[in-house]
Amino acid sequence: MPALNLNLAYEGFVTKKLIDFYVERAKGGAGMLIVGGCYVDIYGKGVPSMISIESDEYIPKLIELADAVHKARDDIKICAQLYHGGAYTFPQIIGRTPIAPSAVYSKFSKTTPREMTLEDIKREQQAFADAAVRAKEAGFDAVEICANAGYLFTQFVSPKTNIRTDEYGGSLENRLRFPIETIKLIRSSVNDFIIGYRISGDDFVPKSNTYKEKAIIAEKLSKYLDYFNVTGGWHETKTPQTTMDVPEGCYTYLAENIKNNVSIPVLASNRINNPELAEHILMAGKADAICMGRPLIADPFLPMKAKKGELRDIMVCIGCNQGCFDSIFKIVQPISCLRNARAANEARTELKPLKEKKKIMIIGAGPGGLEAARVAGMRGHEVHIFEKDDKIGGLLNIIWIPPGRNEFKKMIDNYSYWIQKYGIHLHLDQEITIDKIKEFNPDVVFLATGSKPIKPSIPGIDRENVFWANDVFSGDAPVGKNNVIIGGGATGVELAIYLAKYGNISLETFDFLTFYKALEPEVALKMLQGGRNKVTVLEQLPKLGSALGKTTKWVLLDKCDALGVKFLTSVIVKEIGENYVSYLDAKDKEQMINDIDMVYYATGVEPNDDLFKEIKQLENIKVTKIGDVREPQTVLEAVHRAYKIGNSI
Ligand SMILES: Cc1cc2nc3c(=O)[nH]c(=O)nc-3n(C[C@H](O)[C@H](O)[C@H](O)COP(=O)(O)O)c2cc1C
Ligand code: SF4
Repeated sequence: MPALNLNLAYEGFVTKKLIDFYVERAKGGAGMLIVGGCYVDIYGKGVPSMISIESDEYIPKLIELADAVHKARDDIKICAQLYHGGAYTFPQIIGRTPIAPSAVYSKFSKTTPREMTLEDIKREQQAFADAAVRAKEAGFDAVEICANAGYLFTQFVSPKTNIRTDEYGGSLENRLRFPIETIKLIRSSVNDFIIGYRISGDDFVPKSNTYKEKAIIAEKLSKYLDYFNVTGGWHETKTPQTTMDVPEGCYTYLAENIKNNVSIPVLASNRINNPELAEHILMAGKADAICMGRPLIADPFLPMKAKKGELRDIMVCIGCNQGCFDSIFKIVQPISCLRNARAANEARTELKPLKEKKKIMIIGAGPGGLEAARVAGMRGHEVHIFEKDDKIGGLLNIIWIPPGRNEFKKMIDNYSYWIQKYGIHLHLDQEITIDKIKEFNPDVVFLATGSKPIKPSIPGIDRENVFWANDVFSGDAPVGKNNVIIGGGATGVELAIYLAKYGNISLETFDFLTFYKALEPEVALKMLQGGRNKVTVLEQLPKLGSALGKTTKWVLLDKCDALGVKFLTSVIVKEIGENYVSYLDAKDKEQMINDIDMVYYATGVEPNDDLFKEIKQLENIKVTKIGDVREPQTVLEAVHRAYKIGNSI
């Protein structure tokens, strides 16, 4: 498991929650847990709730962590990732001006660091060596230098951020002086201890090192190291690294590129979220071991389940970043997981033993209803799901349709399996009325009937060419050549991409046509990736994509930009005419969009709780709302509440 800053440390100290998190992953079968990043010095501190390894006072808690992990499983290894943010640190967090090889403005921290003096260099190198000694003393089995993602080590090696004119800058040899000296210093301090190096296989940043230079860099560093752990990019990289639209295993070529140039073990990383893919990568000789980060947040027992061949039982990480990465970028928020309500809260979410078996009626098979059914079913209750549709999934059936959001479908696949596994009774095509509930006579009802769209009261909203956004995804609304979307939240932004590309050729067609040279690759590429249809999004607020997490928002907005989607913010829509939309712009001036084919509204949802009051009046039947029916929620919130309710009944 690669390093994941969980934001669970307290003032740098390892906490019980952090230990519980790793003990669970040790029990789950991971080979090595890389813990951290652990900052080696105040100048390197990234966020307030990171683990510190900067002085001896942190050792006792680190010992507790290493001991607990080793006790959880004999053959597990634990490694401390040694971290220094350099120019990526924030003055408000470290209480001083950040330091870096050169005073080059950082887009990530929005700060210009101070150029490190030779004294700074020696001090930070010593901090790394001292940190490694502490890790060894604490009973860790290895250390890994965090030299990826645009942090201090990368800043020294990159010609973009290192413009020094002394012996630490200029030629590649000079730029490698800081890492090589530091590794040698660590080595002389810990002797035969394992030292790994996390490297970006390509910086994906203009004027920095590409995969070509990385192969040379890795080769030069390899003689001092025990393994490479290959990831990709920096935080400011414009090529997405972890979002849902990154194809699984996409970056394994970066590990292979380094493996081809070194003779020490190489670990592959990023979006390798299922054991079969991991096995393929190993069989293809692209890497010697596989790092799974978020997949083990979502399911700590993935390795164990893979070993037993229980692949369908794995709670798949869908790359949404909503619980994990997005929390970290809120600086102080601990991680969580959209899929796994237990992640980072292991002790308080243990499954409770069943006191009395109940007959549970769950109305609605969306994510909330399904999760409550899974948990209650797992605990041994008699669970019945009633769904008005002919399939389970509810809103998930819509959410997974937009390009790059397909991973949500895996949630439906998972729940289909668990319905069978836990003997949950599934009743499809069932419109539930109060009489049916009385007749069924459950002990408990979980009402998970979701939400309904809010139709804005705009003149012309009932015209024939006006549709609810989700009707496009479900195939119930047509797509025009010139489209207007009212509402630029998450749904509006995703719909914009979908509409702009609607009618493009598929990847398979692109592959086929270019393989047979039937079409020039540039023409085929345009037909695959270009924007075909005009889209204008009108948003009332000054900002777009309000419900989208930080790690996903920029990816979607960049895509919209490339597809020529036009966004107008701080506007009020006045009227929808036969082929126009009129609105007041940010300066209160009346404007008009003409020659419109279709208009879609993505203006939020409201609870669909019509049955609630009636059920509440029934004697002997307890009713609880789950998901959007309570108040419009994210899938994460719905799943977490459902877990709690399924576990408390
Ligand atoms: C919440 C979170 C925190 C992370 N913190 C670190 C870190 O401190 N050091 C590091 O090298 N990578 C860090 N990463 C990156 C992961 O190690 C990993 O490369 C990334 O999640 C992609 O792999 P995955 O798809 O298996 O999760 C972090 C990722 C997440 C989601
Ligand atoms: S929040 Fe999403 S991306 Fe993060 S671990 Fe959970 S499923 Fe994976």
